[in-house]
Amino acid sequence: MPPSIESPGGDRQATIVEVGPRDGLQNEKRLVSTGQKLRLIGMLADCGFARIEATAFVSPKWVPQMADHDEVMRRAVRRPGLMLSALVPNEQGARAAIAAGAQELAVFTSASETFSKRNTNCTIEEGLARFVPVIALAAEHSLPVRGYVSCAVDCPYEGPIEPGAAARVVARLRDLGCAEIAVADTIGRATPERVHAMVLATLEEAEAARLAGHFHDTGGLALANVDAAWDLGLRVFDAAAGGLGGCPNAPGAAGNLRSGALVAHLASKGTSTGINRELLAGIETMLAEGKFFAEP
Ligand code: HMG
Ligand code: MG
Repeated sequence: MPPSIESPGGDRQATIVEVGPRDGLQNEKRLVSTGQKLRLIGMLADCGFARIEATAFVSPKWVPQMADHDEVMRRAVRRPGLMLSALVPNEQGARAAIAAGAQELAVFTSASETFSKRNTNCTIEEGLARFVPVIALAAEHSLPVRGYVSCAVDCPYEGPIEPGAAARVVARLRDLGCAEIAVADTIGRATPERVHAMVLATLEEAEAARLAGHFHDTGGLALANVDAAWDLGLRVFDAAAGGLGGCPNAPGAAGNLRSGALVAHLASKGTSTGINRELLAGIETMLAEGKFFAEP
């Protein structure tokens, strides 16, 4: 069994998983150089993020922007207390990610069959079968594994998803040995009521400390959706600096929840995330002004 991931409890502390370098940049139309990605990861580490999803070891034909995954993972900043994660769809990706020094693996499937096909060219069942060797490899290397459930609330192809469908996939990822399971509103169309229903259903299968919320912000409700999940006990949430992102295979998926907005929102509830807000604001201003990825 791979190791567990420490997650905060109580109302005073939350963990933000910074997914900008992966979920943010995978959909970026501009070609972002490896150097610029490494700089972004370094600056995010300086802000105090303890978990950064650095890149994706997926097929470069499917996601060209992540083609430099090997170099990004090998050269990304390392420091005590920082865990760099790699998104992987299969054993090939897992082997490459581990060889490059990934400290956590993240597998991904969906509560929607159509999305699974469009995103990974396989059924949900086939995708889960691919995770078996990934999780065995992770255990061999003492690396924790996160599992994503995309389209946990809505699918761009199938529309609304039954809470039970998300819960069934959570149960499968739990049984496979995922230390943490992130339930995702991939296209950012969820409402707090529907997030509540989905999280409530998934709590039948995994305790709150094992769940994380991943909310895209298309409808401007991502913070309200965080609150809905928070009220049911979740304390780990994903966000991307500058609200970068989307999913190349999910039409309509806008950016991720902006990290600075999430840090401020949690702070307003008296919850600490350990993030330096001034440094993060500096990065987000550069991103907003289009300066970050400008050619030097
Ligand atoms: P496939 O074409 O069915 O794969 O793709 P295949 O096994 O038939 O192999 C075809 C080619 O891909 C071969 O190369 C393999 O070597 C190569 P060729 O012989 O043609 O030169 N290949 C790989 N190359 C690099 N790394 C790998 C890998 N595996 C095979 N790991 C596959 C199947 C899963 C690979 C493909 O569909 C894929 O890479 N999909 C990734 C899609 C993706 O990254 N989507 C975005 C991330 S998910 C997301 O954003 C949602 C999330 O944020 C949560 C949420 O918001 O919902 C996580
Ligand atoms: Mg996403």
